[in-house]
Amino acid sequence: MANRESIGNVLFVAIGVSLVCSILVASAAIVLKPRQLQNEEEYRQRIILDVAGLYEPGVDVGALYAAIEETSTELASGEQAPVYLVRKNGAIEQLILPIEGPGLWATMYGFLAVEADGRTARGLQFYEHGETPGLGDAVDKPAWREQWRGKRLYDDAGDPLIEVVKGPAPKDSDYQIDGLAGATLTGRGVSIFVQYWIGDEGYGPYLKSLSGRESQ
Ligand SMILES: Cc1cc2nc3c(=O)[nH]c(=O)nc-3n(C[C@H](O)[C@H](O)[C@H](O)COP(=O)(O)O)c2cc1C
Repeated sequence: MANRESIGNVLFVAIGVSLVCSILVASAAIVLKPRQLQNEEEYRQRIILDVAGLYEPGVDVGALYAAIEETSTELASGEQAPVYLVRKNGAIEQLILPIEGPGLWATMYGFLAVEADGRTARGLQFYEHGETPGLGDAVDKPAWREQWRGKRLYDDAGDPLIEVVKGPAPKDSDYQIDGLAGATLTGRGVSIFVQYWIGDEGYGPYLKSLSGRESQ
């Protein structure tokens, strides 16, 4: 009788088991891919609805998202950048702009909502970042995010102005947002890349064209 524990047999079983497992894993990945893409798309839509203030738990995301108009604008680099428009009675009510940039630990990805005037913030929401729980992740707190609403994006010369300060923002400031306690660096990162995205290299020219400020 052949030795069942011979090197040949052991290799045969090991290779056979690996082959079967890899086929199973590969098939699962292929079969689940469409579902995964659909989930990612739904998540993206939910975040856009959320920052627009249109998300309603329990209501079909696809149906709500039908209210969002997807368009794009050309950046100074020549790249096309997406813009999401929310209209009310045909007129633009707000714009949702994808923004991203370095936090303290990793790139932060989110959306900035801007009023139809192109110069007033309406909201900010991140959907992916690597900031520390309890410190930099305070960017996700509703109370902090709420401060963005109504803040001025630009100074009188049209340069980006809105910023996250260190410590509490002055009560009457119309463009400053409270710093994040123990996470000044995350706040500084957010200021820098928000200013970049509303500036000349980002959506600045597009926003200015909306508010008719190009001639100023
Ligand atoms: C483990 C650890 C995690 C930290 N995470 C963050 C962070 O997510 N964001 C941040 O700005 N600072 C973070 N810090 C603190 C920074 O190193 C720095 O001290 C802080 O940003 C200064 O902010 P403050 O002037 O408000 O204290 C972390 C520090 C440690 C030790």
